[in-house]
Amino acid sequence: MAGRLKDRVAIVVGAGSSGPGWGNGKCTAVTFAREGARVFCVDRKLAAAKETAEIIAKEGGEAVAHEADVTQAAQVKAMTEACLARWGRIDVLDNNVGIGSTGGPVELAEEDWDTVFDVNVKSFFLTLKHVLPVMEAHGRGSIINVSSIASIRVPKGISYVAYNASKGAVNSLTQAVALQYAAKGIRCNAILPGLMHTPMIDFLAEEYAKDARDHNAAYEKMIAIRNKASPTGKMGTGWDTANAALFLASDESAYVNGHLLIVDGGITLRA
Ligand SMILES: NC(=O)c1ccc[n+]([C@@H]2O[C@H](COP(=O)([O-])OP(=O)(O)OC[C@H]3O[C@@H](n4cnc5c(N)ncnc54)[C@H](O)[C@@H]3O)[C@@H](O)[C@H]2O)c1
Repeated sequence: MAGRLKDRVAIVVGAGSSGPGWGNGKCTAVTFAREGARVFCVDRKLAAAKETAEIIAKEGGEAVAHEADVTQAAQVKAMTEACLARWGRIDVLDNNVGIGSTGGPVELAEEDWDTVFDVNVKSFFLTLKHVLPVMEAHGRGSIINVSSIASIRVPKGISYVAYNASKGAVNSLTQAVALQYAAKGIRCNAILPGLMHTPMIDFLAEEYAKDARDHNAAYEKMIAIRNKASPTGKMGTGWDTANAALFLASDESAYVNGHLLIVDGGITLRA
């Protein structure tokens, strides 16, 4: 089914990954390109965006790497203008950046709360602010906001209130925009990934294991806990998120709007 995004221009924000391997945004950018989209790969780490754009180019696709910290309004404006200058349109916006910070309200520092909200929510507001008028002028567009099951469930044994609250805000933002722009040919949906095995998780597992006497055993333990938490016995991958994003980006989801698409192997079905 190649060509599901033929002639489309897609911006993937957070198109790199935070370490070696395949994050949600990297998989999404490559999947979009495999289906015919020209992909504007945006990341605050230019090297990470370039790595993704090079993978796409090697496979015969078309991609540009662009450096931007999307918490900064001027950089989001410049990102939008650069994409328009290059390809003259934006059909798909995939908002994928996100960070976490552990702690409840008492333990979490105020500045960490602000940072999580800047990256996870304000950046989405800023990309919407600049990209929506472009889509409106063309009379079409699909926006995909990467949320998390943490927006609707509180995990056992770990507290990260800022992450929970920020992803809840992403869901509300998604649905408010979906309704406001429905009559203008623009759809806005969210993906709620569950436990996915991405480089961000390897980084967290490394952090967890760094002071352990047997580093490898501690790392494997953390990975095993996450695998076991899934009813399938295995974490998902960035490709699972990417395939959901492809569906939402393509015309196959033409009548899907304001939807919160859970991609979690069934974890949220558990009591
Ligand atoms: N991995 C999981 O288990 C999981 C589960 C649920 C939701 N998610 C969500 O999926 C998304 C991506 O997660 P991932 O695991 O692939 O992470 P990742 O850290 O591997 O990739 C995110 C990319 O975004 C970039 N980025 C971060 N802040 C940025 C900013 N301000 N401006 C521009 N780029 C920025 C990073 O440099 C990185 O390349 C996040 O929104 C995360 O909350 C992940």
